[in-house]
Amino acid sequence: MKHKEARDLPVNIYETDKLLAEYLLFHYGSADEILPYEFGPGGALDFAVRCVSAGLETFKLPAGARALDLGCAVGRSSFELARRCSSVVGIDFSHRFIEAAQRLRDHGQLSYSRLDEGALCTELIAHVPAEIDRSRVTFEPGDAMNLRPDLGEFDVVLMANLIDRLSEPSRCLERLASLVKPGGRLVITSPYTWLEEFTPRENWLGGQESEGGAITTLQGLTRSLEPNFIFEGATDLPFLIREHSRKFQWSVAQATFWSRR
Ligand SMILES: C[S@@+](CC[C@H](N)C(=O)[O-])C[C@H]1O[C@@H](n2cnc3c(N)ncnc32)[C@H](O)[C@@H]1O
Repeated sequence: MKHKEARDLPVNIYETDKLLAEYLLFHYGSADEILPYEFGPGGALDFAVRCVSAGLETFKLPAGARALDLGCAVGRSSFELARRCSSVVGIDFSHRFIEAAQRLRDHGQLSYSRLDEGALCTELIAHVPAEIDRSRVTFEPGDAMNLRPDLGEFDVVLMANLIDRLSEPSRCLERLASLVKPGGRLVITSPYTWLEEFTPRENWLGGQESEGGAITTLQGLTRSLEPNFIFEGATDLPFLIREHSRKFQWSVAQATFWSRR
């Protein structure tokens, strides 16, 4: 029998050096550090900041609000939530991302290498904005489809660009009713990039034909969430991930806003 060697095992891309550096730049890089072209899509910068500002724009938070950032990656949105919430929990499946987020919490900064061209890199430092109270934020590894039962309830739950990276997104959606307090806010953003390498096709929330005809992800989300949440609106949030100085991913997430019944 052939033994499965390490090189045959599927790699979690979110544990790699490449993605760690790309996400540190995506979340904490300045406009100059990310996009050295005046003609580039500057409106797609600062996605991790805009997810929070768009999600809470019309929402009045109670004093002492608690927030949960599911799929927090290296944590920028969690820190942004801490501007308006007394405590924030950031959870991600990637141990390396969580370790980086914890170091940013403890030290306020973290050095990393930005890829420029071939093997050429520039050393940069990610900073958490100095005015944010980092002690309000905790990070922990976890699986959004199997969260620990004692997380408690939150006034805000953010899931930014997570659902199309889960093998069973509906398992995560099912848990949301018990995580968001009555009257609380749920913010889901996603470019709906469904790929079978992350999500078996039968588990896609939308983006394919079903018995009743074509179903969009917004329709699928609405079907899943409607029993427990009221749809409050949607907006488009572009975002830009730099791979190297001449290669970028420009995407448009749909952000949807929901209130817990
Ligand atoms: C596309 S990234 C988005 C990260 C971040 N929210 C953002 O908007 O930049 C997807 C994130 O989901 C995390 N993730 C994937 N599967 C997960 C799971 N089962 N539970 C929690 N996080 C998961 C990945 O590690 C990665 O950080």
